[in-house]
Amino acid sequence: MIQTICCIGAGYVGGPTMAVIADRCPGVQVTVVDLNQARIDAWNDADLSQLPVYEPGLDAVVGRCRCRNLHFSTDVDGAIAAADMVFLSVNTPTKSKGIGAGQASDLRWIEASARQVAAAARGHTIVVEKSTLPVRTAEVIQTILGAAEGDTPAGRKSFSVLSNPEFLAEGTAIGDLEAPDRVLIGGEDPAAIEALAAIYGHWVPAERILRTNVWSSELSKLTANAFLAQRISSINSIAALCEATEADVREVARAIGADSRIGGKFLKAGPGFGGSCFQKDILNLVYLCRHYGLVEVANYWEAVVTLNAWQQQRISALVVRQLFGTVTGKRIAVLGFAFKADTNDTRETPAIRICADLLEEGAQLAIFDPKVSAEQIALDLGQQPEASGSANGSSAANGLSGEGVWQKVADPLEAVRGADAVLVLTEWQQFAQLDWAALAGVMRQPAWLFDARAICDAGAARAAGLKVWRVGEG
Ligand code: UDX
Ligand code: ADP
Repeated sequence: MIQTICCIGAGYVGGPTMAVIADRCPGVQVTVVDLNQARIDAWNDADLSQLPVYEPGLDAVVGRCRCRNLHFSTDVDGAIAAADMVFLSVNTPTKSKGIGAGQASDLRWIEASARQVAAAARGHTIVVEKSTLPVRTAEVIQTILGAAEGDTPAGRKSFSVLSNPEFLAEGTAIGDLEAPDRVLIGGEDPAAIEALAAIYGHWVPAERILRTNVWSSELSKLTANAFLAQRISSINSIAALCEATEADVREVARAIGADSRIGGKFLKAGPGFGGSCFQKDILNLVYLCRHYGLVEVANYWEAVVTLNAWQQQRISALVVRQLFGTVTGKRIAVLGFAFKADTNDTRETPAIRICADLLEEGAQLAIFDPKVSAEQIALDLGQQPEASGSANGSSAANGLSGEGVWQKVADPLEAVRGADAVLVLTEWQQFAQLDWAALAGVMRQPAWLFDARAICDAGAARAAGLKVWRVGEG
């Protein structure tokens, strides 16, 4: 029986997952550890609106369990030593240099945490890989841990490694964790598998807990994300064709989604997929296929990522083209920067590439997002915001000098003041309720609405005198 859990990594995966485990298993002590002191302090903040991860419902879960059986700490070694089960939920971004750069995952944080577990663990410890990882990572972890097994002054040390991929989607993480479609446990040690299954068994129906070998489990995670991302690239490719042929991608999506073999989910055309998983996982798959000499398979999956990048580039090019071929010195309101609604996460958000393209063209961007901070946008764009009040087409502080600038603004009305265009990049629900008469009234005419999420009331925008482009509308 597992009584004490340690989770290494207090990020988007580790934080919400452990909060729900603690909530559903009151008899288990759960400690989430991280090297990042500021992040741990934020998880411990008395003000629950300051949690480092924004997820609807997360604050309530943390509020119920914190100090009871959910703890956040930087004492990594202490928490490992006390744990019967250790989850690895550290970051695994795509490598930026060296062998496999741009495709393979950077496993340095996984390796470092496995070594730390090897050194600090006591007795028998079940180690669960939770981060998205390339296939066969469990083998690497097993090898590192295996080297530390044996008799120690504190008693015999041994490990079992399991793969338990996370399928939660950001923005709906709490619902996904509380009522998962399935929980996948891959491993070789039946006792370890059953120990983890018993944790989930507190709230997940038995038939939804799937057991596989460790490689199938790891590969299933990559495959699930590859299939989901493929649907998005597929519908975005058809959106481009709709725009060229006067079809409407939403009508097409409804028509094909009604076929129960296809299904209606994940068929929303947009500015392309973002988030920390899809691109990384497909590139992992591509790298793996190349490694095994499966060139055609690698090329097949790589096309999903190529199409996604093209979709983003096509949108920035379209904005420039419609604004008479130049956006230099023009104010463009950008509504939404997060990679999807209901999250403050900007990893791989299409907004980064689209805004960077427009800045390159000399635009003055006024960016509004209800959850993303100016500091995060500055990191993502690699450029500091312009001082308050100057990114304004009417005052044209940098005028026609050609240098792109950006500024974060407090609301959509401020964003559009003096702007030639509004570009909607995230489907925040509030963008469906914008008052187009009021917004159009403060824009510079002729003005455009470019709705890359088809979330806005296009009829109202047109009635207010705006020219409107919606993704996938011919
Ligand atoms: C994804 C997987 O869904 C989840 O199972 C896995 O554990 C992690 O990766 P996430 O990245 O949080 O989750 O978000 P998801 O809802 O899958 O959306 C990914 C991207 O696709 C977003 O940028 C979203 O806007 C886009 N998307 C999604 C579309 O453009 N159209 C759709 O129909 C659905
Ligand atoms: P994810 O989306 O996979 O949860 P995040 O980047 O949000 O990724 O979170 C990963 C967390 O793991 C970060 O907060 C990082 O500081 C933490 N981390 C990375 N390596 C270690 C380590 N060796 N020990 C403790 N925490 C670590």
